[in-house]
Amino acid sequence: MPTVTFQNENIKVEVPEGATLRKAANKAGVSVYGGPNKLLNCRGFGLCGSDKITVTPDTCVSKPSFFEKLQFGEGTKTRLACQAKITGDVIVNTALAMEYGEEMRENLKFVALAGVFGILTLGAVVFMVFEMVGKPLF
Ligand code: FES
Repeated sequence: MPTVTFQNENIKVEVPEGATLRKAANKAGVSVYGGPNKLLNCRGFGLCGSDKITVTPDTCVSKPSFFEKLQFGEGTKTRLACQAKITGDVIVNTALAMEYGEEMRENLKFVALAGVFGILTLGAVVFMVFEMVGKPLF
């Protein structure tokens, strides 16, 4: 069985050939999702791009899937943990996934702030419209 080494976490795990790196990470208790992506991910369908990792050597994992080519283009070293299937001993670096998780955390803060501002603005507009038609709310 191939051995997967998670470089940053310094954890090794043996998994059957053909298993995805996402499954290997689950078995090792390593997260391939950073920040809010731990909850906000596509559960391994290759759609969200939140489990970005780098793998060495790239000859010991399957060829990039359609979704990986779509997200990263041809010839990239970045892989999706849920799409890359193990064919030999590999070393995995999860730094990209963690960085992406931090970006998502910042984006969610901005979206929450924009949402609050939008609701307050809408309330003010509704209040002013009722004032203008002569039927004050308060
Ligand atoms: S879990 Fe969404 S792309 Fe891998």
